[in-house]
Amino acid sequence: MYTDTPEKLLLENKAWSQEVSAKDPDFFKNLATDQCPNFLWIGCSDSRVPAETVVNAQPGEIFVHRNIANQVIATDFNCLSVVQYAIAVLQVKHIIVCGHYGCGGVKAALQQQKSNLLITNKWLMHIKDIYRLHQDELEVLESEEKIDRLIELNIIEQVYRLAYTSIVQSAWKHGHKPTVHGWVYGLENGLIKELIKLDHNSPIHKIYQYTD
Ligand code: CO
Repeated sequence: MYTDTPEKLLLENKAWSQEVSAKDPDFFKNLATDQCPNFLWIGCSDSRVPAETVVNAQPGEIFVHRNIANQVIATDFNCLSVVQYAIAVLQVKHIIVCGHYGCGGVKAALQQQKSNLLITNKWLMHIKDIYRLHQDELEVLESEEKIDRLIELNIIEQVYRLAYTSIVQSAWKHGHKPTVHGWVYGLENGLIKELIKLDHNSPIHKIYQYTD
């Protein structure tokens, strides 16, 4: 059964802390001094795709940003601040956009706007745009395949949106990193597949190019 009270979560936290300290008495002391993760993870808020768990990573290994349907929006200062900090200060080597099959955000974007989700509707508008961009390819697919393909196209689009930012292009020009990956996670088997990878040699459409 799932934990259903915050009190239980706090008890679990105490048990976890004790367990980790028992295995490695210096674990928290070492981690407390600084963080130097090699990865920035941009994932979906979905509770079934926890970044560290699905790649068996430890605290300190991955800098994480998650939102509904793992989107990178050019006016979202939350996500962009995370990206800038990860590149400028943490100097991560890789940015991973990890979406997942069965994504509720992408499914919702294929439907009409709901009156009880006035804000969320706006967040999902960008996915409707991706659908419209690829309508010819998507419309011939059966419903399940259509959703799966839009989920993949959404991930690929977010990787490009990262590449379109001045933050990433400037880092590519001056330091040849990070590499940006698009991954999709399967809820049914727990496996990740790479869909796309962009680095400092990847061509960027002229209208998105940043010159400094
Ligand atoms: Co999702």
